[in-house]
Amino acid sequence: MVEIFNPATAGTEGLTEFAPDSTAARKLIFYHASEGKPLATPWQVALARSKLLTELQLPDGYILDCACGSGIQLGAHMAMLQRPGIGVELDTKRAQASAVNLQSIVQHRNEVGTERMERTRILAADGRDGAVICAAFADAFSLDTFPKIALLHLDPARPRNSRTHGLEEMAPRLDEVFKGWSPYLSDGVNGPALLLDLSPRLTHEQRLEVESLVDEVWKGIARTWVWTSRGRGRVDRLALWLGDAATQGIARRFVRIPPSITDDAHVVSGGRHLQAGDGLPAVTRHPPRRGERVSILDAALVESGLAEDWLRTVSKEAAFSWRVVAGRRPQIHHAHPLRLGQPMDRMLVQATGRIVALARIELQVDTVDQLVELALEHDIGKLTVRVSMPPEVQPSVQGAIDRQLSRRHGRRDAFVVQQPDDEMLLLCIVE
Ligand SMILES: C[S@@+](CC[C@H](N)C(=O)[O-])C[C@H]1O[C@@H](n2cnc3c(N)ncnc32)[C@H](O)[C@@H]1O
Repeated sequence: MVEIFNPATAGTEGLTEFAPDSTAARKLIFYHASEGKPLATPWQVALARSKLLTELQLPDGYILDCACGSGIQLGAHMAMLQRPGIGVELDTKRAQASAVNLQSIVQHRNEVGTERMERTRILAADGRDGAVICAAFADAFSLDTFPKIALLHLDPARPRNSRTHGLEEMAPRLDEVFKGWSPYLSDGVNGPALLLDLSPRLTHEQRLEVESLVDEVWKGIARTWVWTSRGRGRVDRLALWLGDAATQGIARRFVRIPPSITDDAHVVSGGRHLQAGDGLPAVTRHPPRRGERVSILDAALVESGLAEDWLRTVSKEAAFSWRVVAGRRPQIHHAHPLRLGQPMDRMLVQATGRIVALARIELQVDTVDQLVELALEHDIGKLTVRVSMPPEVQPSVQGAIDRQLSRRHGRRDAFVVQQPDDEMLLLCIVE
């Protein structure tokens, strides 16, 4: 027997976990259950990706989230697309929390009592079992036919506290969901629409494995991989948008969620299919030269394989010389300044400047004097260390530089970087 929750009547009895969503513009409290809060999608992230869905032509029908957790992503999709929803959640208390949250979302948006909400339900059931869920749903509304599913959203649970995990550890498993739902998804122009919310920790090989699971059911279906970042160079989400949810001709997309909820996300699109490789540029080794430009790019953008696509929009340069690709500080060298007039573009660069001096100094607290001397020769008043150093040493070195420079009268901002396997310091004036 599948338990069914109606958002219009679901109450909070027995639900003890709740918290305001810190990313929402106005107060929005979400209920969770069974320690579900860390699993929940932040409202701003959920809304940003649902907004991107509004640019697509989805088939008619319901939004289905077959492992809906606290229902936050489902609520955002329904609000943005103005569609009814079906949420499925194995944990009954979480299913109840989802129903309550869907109602809170419509209250937050002044959309209570709409026809789409009357047709929306959350089912406490196994989200892999399309036949059982469709039958229970049709039964609850005395429908002659099964509901049409316009979009299947899946954000499976993954093992916590582990940097890596296998695809078979996702709950529910992708292949089982595909098998259980493929007969019930509406066919759009490019096949059914699916949005798979995956872990950014998946390796390139695992991403290809996900593609083969997809191809086993929907051979050659259109696909767009989407990397989402909320800043600090971290990929927060990796998703695969399929069929009518994919954008034809766009293999990859990088979505930077802006610091302010009122701004739209910054989207970079393009790239090559994953089968063609991980998309990371090749590293070249050259001796650094005074006068050339150095830029440290957003690490999440580089990880998405779209850095070169983005660089083409901010520079006419024919080629960039990649000195560091992996890690927190991807580094390129180039001849001309980047055109960073747009604030959104500035967010994708950690630092950019021109090399004014090269110095073979082993950077430590007791060698800071030498670096400061050099900085003063170049009229530098502020110097940021962007060199990899042990975390316990870095603050002391930066602190010593700041103290010494604050007593002098340099006027320019600068940063210092290194190339891999080379102790030469590159002193760069910020541009
Ligand atoms: C990462 S959470 C989803 C969070 C959701 N996107 C949100 O915004 O709140 C994954 C959920 O899948 C549920 N789950 C695991 N196996 C399931 C299954 N076979 N059927 C339905 N739900 C399942 C877990 O209980 C968990 O709540």
